Amino acid sequence: MKSSEIRKTFIEYFKSKGHEVVASASLVPRGDPTLLFTNAGMVRFKPVFLGDEESPYKRAVSCQKCLRAGGKHSDIENVGHTKRHHTFFEMLGNFSFGDYFKEKAIEYAWELLTGVFQISKDKLYVSIYEEDDEAERLWQEKTGLSLSRIVRLSAKDNFWQMADTGPCGPCSEIIIDQGPDAGCGKETCKVGCDCDRFLELWNLVFMQFNRDEFGTLTPLPKPSIDTGMGIERISAVLQGKNNNFDSDIFKEIISSIEANTGVTYGESPDTDASIRVIADHIRAISFLIVEGIMPSNEGRGYVLRRILRRAGRHARLLGKEGPLLYRLTDPVVTSLKGVYPELEEERETVVKVIRFEEERFGKTLEQGMLLMDSLIGSLRASKKTIIPGQEVFRLYDTYGFPLDLARDIAMDLGFSIDEDGFHMAMSIQRERARASWVGEETALSSIYRELISETGKTEFLGYETTESDAVIKAILKAGNVVKELSVGEEGEVFLNKTTFYGESGGQIGDTGVIYSDTFKADVLDTKSPLDSFISHHIKLRKGTLQVWMKVRCSVDIDKRHAIMRNHTATHLLQSALRATLGEHVKQAGSFVGSDRLRFDFTHFSSLGRDELNVVEDMVNSWILQNHPVNVLEMDIKDALSSGAIALFGERYGERVRTITVPGVSMELCGGTHVRATGDIGAFRILGEGSVSSGIRRIEAITGKQTIAYMREKEDELLKIALLVKSPDAPLEKVRALIEELRELQKEKEKAKGVAVKDISTEVVKKAREISGIKVVSEKVDGLSQKDLRALADSIRDRLGSCVIVLASVTDNQASFLSMVTGDLTKKLSADKILREVAKMTGGRGGGKPELAQGGTKDINALDTAINRVYDIVKTVKS
Ligand code: SER
Repeated sequence: MKSSEIRKTFIEYFKSKGHEVVASASLVPRGDPTLLFTNAGMVRFKPVFLGDEESPYKRAVSCQKCLRAGGKHSDIENVGHTKRHHTFFEMLGNFSFGDYFKEKAIEYAWELLTGVFQISKDKLYVSIYEEDDEAERLWQEKTGLSLSRIVRLSAKDNFWQMADTGPCGPCSEIIIDQGPDAGCGKETCKVGCDCDRFLELWNLVFMQFNRDEFGTLTPLPKPSIDTGMGIERISAVLQGKNNNFDSDIFKEIISSIEANTGVTYGESPDTDASIRVIADHIRAISFLIVEGIMPSNEGRGYVLRRILRRAGRHARLLGKEGPLLYRLTDPVVTSLKGVYPELEEERETVVKVIRFEEERFGKTLEQGMLLMDSLIGSLRASKKTIIPGQEVFRLYDTYGFPLDLARDIAMDLGFSIDEDGFHMAMSIQRERARASWVGEETALSSIYRELISETGKTEFLGYETTESDAVIKAILKAGNVVKELSVGEEGEVFLNKTTFYGESGGQIGDTGVIYSDTFKADVLDTKSPLDSFISHHIKLRKGTLQVWMKVRCSVDIDKRHAIMRNHTATHLLQSALRATLGEHVKQAGSFVGSDRLRFDFTHFSSLGRDELNVVEDMVNSWILQNHPVNVLEMDIKDALSSGAIALFGERYGERVRTITVPGVSMELCGGTHVRATGDIGAFRILGEGSVSSGIRRIEAITGKQTIAYMREKEDELLKIALLVKSPDAPLEKVRALIEELRELQKEKEKAKGVAVKDISTEVVKKAREISGIKVVSEKVDGLSQKDLRALADSIRDRLGSCVIVLASVTDNQASFLSMVTGDLTKKLSADKILREVAKMTGGRGGGKPELAQGGTKDINALDTAINRVYDIVKTVKS
């Protein structure tokens, strides 16, 4: 029976017994903070069991997607090493909500297994909770099982609970004896043993209690039934396999792993374990991404990341260096899309996310694995089995190699990690970092703290106006407090109030002038070293500037307007990105200047021109709609509950300033903005790129810059048209030129081919016969590595069985190539010959027994090395 038929038979059986067929719920339990993932079929019915919700039906049957990885219910470490553990699996289950209880549950399960699925009764055992006399009696009465096949086990095995709190109860498991060959062979092996012989097939939970956070059990309103049978196990059993991975469920996935790695399943226990890990993990990975979970460093995203990395590590153990996992999603989708159509819908995202994460983590993984290997090697040599925590921390700190992966590797090889030592090293380093940061911060801001305590805060008037009167409260010159500045000098000036915006929140400071009747100073930049304290970096152009002078401040309006356009556009850009790419887009940084804006955000892959166009069009349509930009102060609670976007990790006060474009955007922000979106004029994205893993960056321009940009591009095009002398159709002309160039290159290659043949004729003449082997060892100048290869091929075609070593000098560097025909590789290796030649010349190289390549920067010993080849061949015994 195929697994799809098993699924169907199970559902049909219970449907015929009056059960409502319920589709699988999501892998992420909705509104249940007690659980990271759905780990059983009953999870979605929790409120019904507890009596908090009324169910329209009293009986249900389902096939539920489950994940046991991360949190308390994790099987991840076992996966690959046993025949029966999985991270992702499907659970078949029937449920009674206060309807039937133990008796019927036992009857149904027994009839389905022995009657419908035809499993021999002689192979079956059951386990019961040690205090459950009723279950023992019912099993005897209803199935005729003898007492010797009913085993009492403790709460550890036979009392089921979904989490620390929630519905729970004694349970009874139906166990199949897979025969002594499947087991550990120990004398003590019996029902309850951890090995694969006595396989738990179906768990019948007699739901009777609710456990609260203090551990107290309260009886449920109505005793209920929750059962669960993993489809992977029952499929293997019915297909006569004693390993889940040999069932039809994993067949295509394993074939795909074989095809992509060149490793055959069944070759060796080690590679088999890796194949099983990958086959299991790729299903979990695909289903998690389908749920909208992205690899990250916390919560569910971290579980996904961990599974991905673990699978990636095993791919490397199979000798696969580049990304592999993303290629394996097809068989997962194909086999299960009928049951879970969401797999097909999200296929592309799944591939993209996996590939991105694989590429991102590949290097770290390789370096980390190498270092772990050498670490373990040296411990082994000194007969130790515990890896010092500090070493693992160094791996983590320097290469980002995660602890749990190190733990995985250690476990596989029979080692353990001193985790206390790891955490100790981590906290020492944190403390050190904190201490040095505090030190720096104090030195930097202490002078400003002193000043602000004397002068008071700066009142900022720049939201409403760009011009105002003010009084100079303090002056700093080269970091020291002074009373005045004279013409030509630079310094920092602090006023009682100002229209200049101090750089903060990504928005740059203003420029402009501060002046009076007696002096004039250019404001080069303004910063905000402390909250509500603005420093004007000035250069005095005329007169003398003194503390307590009355001055006038005037911000460069053109520049400020450009900044405002960019700032409001940044908000619109964020909204457009969230609308286009999804709510996972979060601001990770921004720069709002006068000539451009930059927005960094979380997203897993690069954006194509099409996506960028959609985003750009969206922002421009909001600009054209000329929405008002409203500024409102409100309580942080109100702002957040109205959906305002806050910066992650930023601490806000009780009262916050919100910038709202009705229906489009609402953000907490202290920056300066245009009054209506139409003021932005136009918006153009210049480019998109990666900042760091999982963070993308968009650069864009607005207002006048867009015109300047378009003009510049048009000028460039015009110049190209003039250059290719085709004012009307420059594109066609450039295409034709490229085509012409290609043709010329082809001809050149052809000519080179002829030349190589000529050289080869010459070289072949110089072939010597040594110990019965034809040897060519020659220097031919001016050839590239590729040409050398062509030359060697041509020589070999002429000579047949032979050894060829060629060296070519170009730009005072030499390339080498050595070739040994297949019939001679038992006696001579191209790789070894090349290494020797390279060594003699202080160069490097290597390859395979038939072909090797290399080079050197030192050409002095070249002739000697080339001649040495004949000696090497001489040493061969014929
Ligand atoms: N909830 C039980 C289990 O997971 C039966 O479904 O084993």
